[in-house]
Order: sequence, then C-alpha cells, then structure tokens
Amino acid sequence: MKNYTSINDINNIQDWIDEARAIKANPLQNIELGQNKTLGLLFFNSSLRTRLSTQKAALNLGVDPIVMNVSGDAWGIEFGDGTVMNGNTAEHIKEAAQVVSQYCDVIAVRAFPTLTDKEKDESEQVLTAFTKHASVPIISMESATGHPLQGLTDAITIAENTTKKKPKVVLSWAPHIKALPHAVANSFAQAMQKMDVEFVIANPKGYDLSPEITKNTAIYHNQEEAFKDADFVYTKNWSSYETYGKNLGGNEDWLITKDKIGDAKFMHCLPVRRNVVVEDAVLDSDSSLVIQQANNRTYAAQLVLKKILENL
Ligand code: CP
Repeated sequence: MKNYTSINDINNIQDWIDEARAIKANPLQNIELGQNKTLGLLFFNSSLRTRLSTQKAALNLGVDPIVMNVSGDAWGIEFGDGTVMNGNTAEHIKEAAQVVSQYCDVIAVRAFPTLTDKEKDESEQVLTAFTKHASVPIISMESATGHPLQGLTDAITIAENTTKKKPKVVLSWAPHIKALPHAVANSFAQAMQKMDVEFVIANPKGYDLSPEITKNTAIYHNQEEAFKDADFVYTKNWSSYETYGKNLGGNEDWLITKDKIGDAKFMHCLPVRRNVVVEDAVLDSDSSLVIQQANNRTYAAQLVLKKILENL
C-alpha cells in the first residue's frame, strides 16, 4: 500500500481487522520493521488521541516519529497554483512537501475542513497537495472529509465486542454547541458499509450526510425508531451537509441517554462533551466502549504503517 487516505484504501476489511487484532495481541512483533525509518506527523489542527496513538504505533514498529504543529510553528503554507505570495503565506506546498520528504520516510497529515467552502473541502486541498508533491507515502490523520484511522479503529472495536454474526449498528447524530466536520461520520459509514452488519443512520432532518457517503444506507429521522434492537450506537455530531457547515440549532432532544440506547454498546471517537452529546450515565457505564476505541487507535495506525513500510 502506498498511501492511506480513505477507508476505500482497505481492500478486505475483515482481513485488516484480523491482522490488527493479531498486532494488538503482540504489539512488538514487528519492532525490527521500522528500524532507521522516520514518520513525520504534521498537525494543522489539535489532537490528543491521533497524535499520541500514531506516535505509539510508530514506536511499536521501531519507527522514529517526529511531530510538528504546522499551524502554530511552521511558516504559513500557500496551496494555490500561480499565486503571487505577497500575503501571509511564506512557503509553498510544492517546496514544503518535498522538504519534509527529505527528513521522513512516511508523512502523516491532519487538516480539517473550512466548513464554509464545500467545493474546497471536497477537493481535499491539503491532503491532495501532500499526496501530489511529497515523494513519500501519505497517511491521513483526519482530513476535510474523512478520518480513516478512526473508521478502521471503530471496525476493529465492533468486531471485538459483537456477540452476533450480523449486529445492528446505528450511527446517530447528537447535539453540539459548535458546527463540526463530517469526517468521522463519513469514514464510519464507509467502514460499516464494508462490514457484515445491519447499518443504519439516524439524524434530524437537514443533517443527511452526503449522498456520496450514505449510498443505499437507510436514514432515519426518528432516533427511537432507528435504535430499535440496536447492538451498537455510534454517536457523533456533524454540521449540516445540505446547508453546508451550519449548526441548524435545536434538536437537543437527540442527546444520547441510557433509556434510549438500552442494552446497546455506546461508541464515540472522543473528545465528547458530556451531557451535551451524551449523558454521564452512558459514558460512565459498562456499555461505553470509548476507552477501548481510544486504545485501538494505536493498533489501527500500527497496521496501516506496517502495510506502508512493507511496501517501501
Ligand atoms: N478521535 C480523535 O481523532 O481524537 P483527537 O482529535 O484527539 O486526535
């Protein structure tokens, strides 16, 4: 595998899940694979889990991780072609991506969407530019439209916890005080569409994800109906796709409660705002898988990095 920028880069998700679980059982089994290799982690946005779990994955493979907060510490990067750079940007992506490629064998990038310019976000300006101009493989650590390391993590976590051959998995929108990206929901939907699960999406009217993502997945605008017989409730807020990037307000009654989810397992990528998105009683219960998900971020990243290193 050259790059990992989308769930669509996974050929057989069950094989990947099995391999990730084998890595989890013996995380240092490939400690020699990454000797004398360097992973550059470039963050245009904040992170806790992605930053630490991807570094941990690198260390487990014997890879040296180096990290930069690009937005705060690097020169402002220009992405436009033919731009007269007489404004705030001092370095063009054409040089920046090639320069980082001199120091790193693999580059991982996090760059969130604008949520104001749908066309620009869907073009994946930052990720595409790194993929085009870097001379080494690229891993997405969450881009404008996808979070494939999280989606793979969530598939692994469902496989670990299911007691049924074909569990029912619900992706439920929940309220938030801010307008948030679609990336986690998009990648989760793509991952579930590849798995042998009964997958449905629940969101208020006005919050349907891109039809390019939802495809034939059933969408409920009634949360209670969607939650019937659910084995897993994966919760995430996202802003409107139709009224692009907007928090339409209201819908506080979509808060996830113990009463609503019953015996289903609760999942969230974190960070999560307690008692806005989900009530304490859920997060503090045995039904919550959020810490296990955070743990599995390491093994998802380790699997992806291993596949890339094997192909160098
Ligand atoms: N879930 C996730 O990507 O967490 P961070 O934003 O903290 O990396």
